[in-house]
Amino acid sequence: MSGKNWDRVPIDAQSVDAPLSSSAVFLVVTVGGDQAALSKAASVLGELDDLVKNVGFRDLSGRLSCIAGIGRDLWDRLGLDRRPQELKPFAPIKGSVHTAPSTAGDLLFHIRAERADMCFEFERMLLDNLGASVTVVDEVEGFRYFDARDLLGFVDGTANPTGLDLPAAALVGDEDGDFAGGSYVVVQKYLHDMNAWKETPTHLQEEIIGRTKIDNIEIDDDDAPRKSHKSLATITDADGNEFDILRDNMPFGRPGKQEFGTYFIGYSRYLWVIEKMLQRMYIGDPPGAYDRLLDFSTPHTGTTFFAPARPTLQKLVEAAQEKLAVDR
Ligand code: HEM
Repeated sequence: MSGKNWDRVPIDAQSVDAPLSSSAVFLVVTVGGDQAALSKAASVLGELDDLVKNVGFRDLSGRLSCIAGIGRDLWDRLGLDRRPQELKPFAPIKGSVHTAPSTAGDLLFHIRAERADMCFEFERMLLDNLGASVTVVDEVEGFRYFDARDLLGFVDGTANPTGLDLPAAALVGDEDGDFAGGSYVVVQKYLHDMNAWKETPTHLQEEIIGRTKIDNIEIDDDDAPRKSHKSLATITDADGNEFDILRDNMPFGRPGKQEFGTYFIGYSRYLWVIEKMLQRMYIGDPPGAYDRLLDFSTPHTGTTFFAPARPTLQKLVEAAQEKLAVDR
């Protein structure tokens, strides 16, 4: 052996733990109601792995990856016997001031690469293959901004789990053996009111986020009258155990249209953890003391998916295809 790790070719499908990339596409589609559309979508899901290789192998340093997530409604329509224990549609949340809407989506494709052209090429081929079986409901092209900052100017992603903490936080384990290695995925597309944010003094922005802006140091707000975003998004159980999620938020925008956004994407072993974060952000802790980040950021979408591990996805596709063939 040459000592090179050949099995670590950096292209993979369903790799939740793929490295954070400099480009991403977030594609959400609905699948048509007829059997033909369902069959087509299932067969494209079954070939995803090959498509990632076909495009990704053209430049291995581009580190192309794609994760497909399946929504609850489609899951049921595919006629699969079992489904992940917690999978359900995104439940809208109505706080006293801000609301998180629930929006349509049967399939999510989270496409990542070091090159925007690789994401583009993969998405183009994927949509070609899906053809008329799907309708695109949302398509966002994200980019990594300076120092991994969001467009509000704060470093975003610092508290993400790393090393062995990553699978422990993001991947389903033995508690739901059939779906071990998969992950619940929640997405929300936020648009920012940049003018209002710019008028907010930096010290107040820092209080809202819970970190300093320039050097990204955590601010202790245990005794503050209002909790920061960071503190509201920190989930602990009665024994003080903390539950993390894996976020791969990306900025996006079109300055010419005054559009400035953050695409939130969270992967979690337990769906309840993300739901609790959202409850704390929108309802507040105590109720009414909601996340002031929402005064400057409005969610336009909200959808929940489950991204099965690669071997599980293959098995699900085969089972769905058999079921659809019998029903025909
Ligand atoms: C932390 C930005 C939405 C969950 C942070 C931080 C920033 C940030 C700058 C601090 C640095 C870091 O640890 O990453 C944003 C923006 C959002 C957004 C701009 C949308 C406009 C959300 C949503 C959730 C969430 C919707 C969950 C449902 C978290 C978590 C942390 C965090 C878990 C880490 C908390 C800790 O320190 O343990 N976010 N966020 N964020 N955010 Fe968000």
